[in-house]
Amino acid sequence: MNVATVILAAGYGTRMKSDMPKVLHGVAGRPMVEWSVRTAEQISQQPPVVVVGHGKEQVQALLGERVAYAVQDQLLGTGHAVMQAAALLRGQADAVVVIYGDMPLLQHTTLQDLVQRFAQAQQQSDLAIAMLTIERADSQGFGRVVRNSAGQIQAIVEEVDCTPEQKLIRELNPGIYCFDSEWLWANLPKIPLSKKGEYYLTDMVGLAVSQGRTVVTTSAPLDEVNGINTRVQLAQASVVLRQRILEHHMLNGVTIIDPQNTYIDDTVEIGSDTTILPGCCLEGKTKIGRHAVIGPYSRITSCTIGDECRVTYAVLEQARMDNRAEIGPFARLRTGAHLGEGVHMGNFGEVKNSYLGPGTKMGHFSYLGDTQVGENVNIGAGTITCNFDGEKKHKTVIEDGAFIGSDTMLVAPLTIGAGARTGAGSVVTKDVPAETLVYGVPAKKAPVDLNQSRQ
Ligand code: UD1
Ligand code: CA
Repeated sequence: MNVATVILAAGYGTRMKSDMPKVLHGVAGRPMVEWSVRTAEQISQQPPVVVVGHGKEQVQALLGERVAYAVQDQLLGTGHAVMQAAALLRGQADAVVVIYGDMPLLQHTTLQDLVQRFAQAQQQSDLAIAMLTIERADSQGFGRVVRNSAGQIQAIVEEVDCTPEQKLIRELNPGIYCFDSEWLWANLPKIPLSKKGEYYLTDMVGLAVSQGRTVVTTSAPLDEVNGINTRVQLAQASVVLRQRILEHHMLNGVTIIDPQNTYIDDTVEIGSDTTILPGCCLEGKTKIGRHAVIGPYSRITSCTIGDECRVTYAVLEQARMDNRAEIGPFARLRTGAHLGEGVHMGNFGEVKNSYLGPGTKMGHFSYLGDTQVGENVNIGAGTITCNFDGEKKHKTVIEDGAFIGSDTMLVAPLTIGAGARTGAGSVVTKDVPAETLVYGVPAKKAPVDLNQSRQ
């Protein structure tokens, strides 16, 4: 069966109390609406149609050409919202599944069940709608599912329109439907205007019944159909999503010591036999290899980290660590930092827009910015690249095997040749040739030949 999907996302989301459209609020690393889009994509070959209204430019900027858009200029209710998709979808599918952009916990398996229920019932009857329902004690805000004495569904009644008896009904409408496409587009315009001045999609149920068409229901997992209206619900949803993400990694062979205190975005990849210690936030497009140990208490945003790396109490963003590199405790990699294979970066260091070649050591209290470091270089404690002259950033090059003495100031632009050394506390302002020792302030060449003294 050919299924099209519609995601309603035009609403105000007033209760978020936010300048940003509700559906753009992030949950477990993705904006809410993106979760709905992913779910829709998993049940249909056609790109979902997202109904946008409030904040439409921002929603469109986020989702781009991944989806099709229907614009609802005036927010006249859920029925009116679906109607906006008619021009795009009429004649394009056998069935139309409608979901919300503020229901990030909904899983595609639940929609598959719904579509299957639809397909089954269609064989036996003149089916118009298959819909999800839930049973729960807290019915507040939900439309009630009204059935006749034979148990057949008759209508959905919005809470505001309920009689006192209907209010007591505990079978509720989560708002997810699979419609017969032809019937949907032919009948949407027949929805009457409600007392509230809206066109309710829920009225399609009563309409179908009045035409003698069949409506069937199937029950949905309770925790998947909680719409997000407030930031309290946003946080609750993120707990559920986070747990799902952690379970996925654990089942893939990642050890997570303290799931309650581990925050991994849905966009992160982790290799097997890696251990995540407590207190880590792994965010964005981060990729971690196998047999690594991450944490405790580290924040890693959009980084690539190789096999057998160690990251301890560190903050890393848009950086890269090759296999067996280690960092921390208390160290920071900023954008463009790249630690080569087996690099050791110890405590209280910062590296920005720099490459450190394999085997290089930077043990303590150092800053390297805009620097190219060769292999097996030793960066002494307190070394600073003075890369900024107040106006421009300048580059430093430190070649293979150089030894930078403690507390050296490297005033860029500057090249330290292979095997060169700087004395403790020197301020280096001029290029240092290979195999040369400099010392002092400003640093001068010492009368020794390092090449000879080594032989
Ligand atoms: C709706 C259902 C109710 C159900 C509840 C479940 C109707 C009339 N009622 O009520 O039976 O129990 O969902 O959560 O459908 N939207 C638009 N354009 C609009 C109005 C809404 O795009 O003009 C979108 C919203 O952004 C939101 C979704 O539709 O994502 C639901 O709208 P909302 O106003 O929250 O509906 P409820 O009053 O909760
Ligand atoms: Ca709602």
